[in-house]
Amino acid sequence: MDIDLALRAARVDTLPVIDMSQEDAHWQIGAAARDIGFFYIINHGVPEALIADVYARAQEFFALPAARKAEIAIEQSACHRGYFVVGGENLDPEKQKAGDLKEGIKIGRDLPLTHPRVVAGVPLHGPNLWPAGLPGWRETMQTYYDAMEALGRRMMQAFALALDLEPDFFDQYLGEPMTTLGPLHYPPQTGRITEAQIGAGAHTDYGCVTLLAQDETGGLQVRAKDGSWIEAPPVAGSFVVNIGDMMERWTNGVFTSTLHRVVNVSGRERFSLPFFFDPDYEAELVCLETCLAPGESPKFPPTTAGQHLLDKINASFTYHKDKDAK
Ligand code: OGA
Ligand code: NI
Repeated sequence: MDIDLALRAARVDTLPVIDMSQEDAHWQIGAAARDIGFFYIINHGVPEALIADVYARAQEFFALPAARKAEIAIEQSACHRGYFVVGGENLDPEKQKAGDLKEGIKIGRDLPLTHPRVVAGVPLHGPNLWPAGLPGWRETMQTYYDAMEALGRRMMQAFALALDLEPDFFDQYLGEPMTTLGPLHYPPQTGRITEAQIGAGAHTDYGCVTLLAQDETGGLQVRAKDGSWIEAPPVAGSFVVNIGDMMERWTNGVFTSTLHRVVNVSGRERFSLPFFFDPDYEAELVCLETCLAPGESPKFPPTTAGQHLLDKINASFTYHKDKDAK
């Protein structure tokens, strides 16, 4: 395997592992969120058997012929749901021309066409695209989606406590949150691997928090404050958790939305299950008072969760550009 120097991780195994069953978990979460913005959680309560089932269902889908996968192509969706091909997403367009070396599925809040937000034409709201001919597939994904949304709400309570806020503080932004399950398949990468194309180009995540299950393959790397890259290897029974842009904006940078990337040097295929916990479309991303020390000013211009997501999706999905343009 020939890997460009810039893609090698400098350090291994330095991210905190937080036991969610411990009473002071929120303090540890707060400390990790303020520091590198990446950590593992264990004893999170999501059944291992369910996670294994979701992997199996994702693998079953990705193994279908291209024409079958195209039946739920994301280009057909009015609300960014469905399947995207290898290269369909480009998380680092400055370095990569052909996009990320991964394919994926976007499964969001499954709203019927009669739902008031869908009727009103709120972008990114509507029904999922479910594959035909895979009995039980939809039910498994929906069960996992619901479990992960509940875990995301627990994370938000931990964040609130760690920020000296009431535990339910963020509930005002979580009426119909734009949570997304995005199973990914990274084909094996061979030949010389450079920053011109990797599994997932360097990026920050867009929302509040991401809860990621990764398989045994490895390849996730996280950028430390000193600019070096740290490996985030698989840890049995864990989710990798990272802070997204929206928490960074709310906290005025007290919590860190950290760059990360995937370099699959294993020579094998890799599967992962990111769950993006994003708030309501209209949630205002304005710096929280408790995060603004006297004399400090906001680091980010105010925006909304919906606008921030649209900006980021437009930058990373070519098909989506000019959609929902104002
Ligand atoms: C992402 C991401 C990491 C992984 O989808 O935003 O960073 O391990 N995924 O797949
Ligand atoms: Ni990410």
